[in-house]
Amino acid sequence: MKRTAVYPGTFDPMTNGHVDLIRRGCHIFDRVLVAVLIDTEKAPLFTVEERLQMIRAIFRREPKVVVKSFSGLLVEFMRKEKARIVVRGLRVVSDFEHEFQMALMNRRLGPEVETLFLTPKEELSYTSSRLVKQVHQLGGDVSGLVPALVHRALARKIPTGD
Ligand code: PNS
Repeated sequence: MKRTAVYPGTFDPMTNGHVDLIRRGCHIFDRVLVAVLIDTEKAPLFTVEERLQMIRAIFRREPKVVVKSFSGLLVEFMRKEKARIVVRGLRVVSDFEHEFQMALMNRRLGPEVETLFLTPKEELSYTSSRLVKQVHQLGGDVSGLVPALVHRALARKIPTGD
């Protein structure tokens, strides 16, 4: 039986912080299932298909990483996938409150589900998809904060950035 961790998120787009976390997960688990939320309230810049494609391309040489989309409750997706561990990143103290609420809500909905928090490299602790999009849109350089193919995709979506 393979030990699978599910890493859920919006990933709009995937940053180097996410990539770092997934690789840390791969050191602990046999398989990291990146679960991209479909019906988010956040009005994403990239479609689900675009996000799935980009994440699959980033990890094309890393067979432990599997990428799927999901909608509805995370715990239902976990049951369908027969997985019990959720991995989430904790970057800074301000992440804690929201992450703690989600972990406890998921535990209430699915007592079999355990949430494991990992921290990314400290130099990525201020990186977020939201800031990356904002800085790029305003012409700032976000290379080094996102994988090269995400950077190119951002430039195509928001050409004013470069
Ligand atoms: O990248 P994000 O936006 O911080 O990820 C949030 C995510 C996708 C992990 C969270 O919104 C989620 O799990 N949504 C699915 C709906 C759900 O299960 N809600 C109840 C638990 S909070």
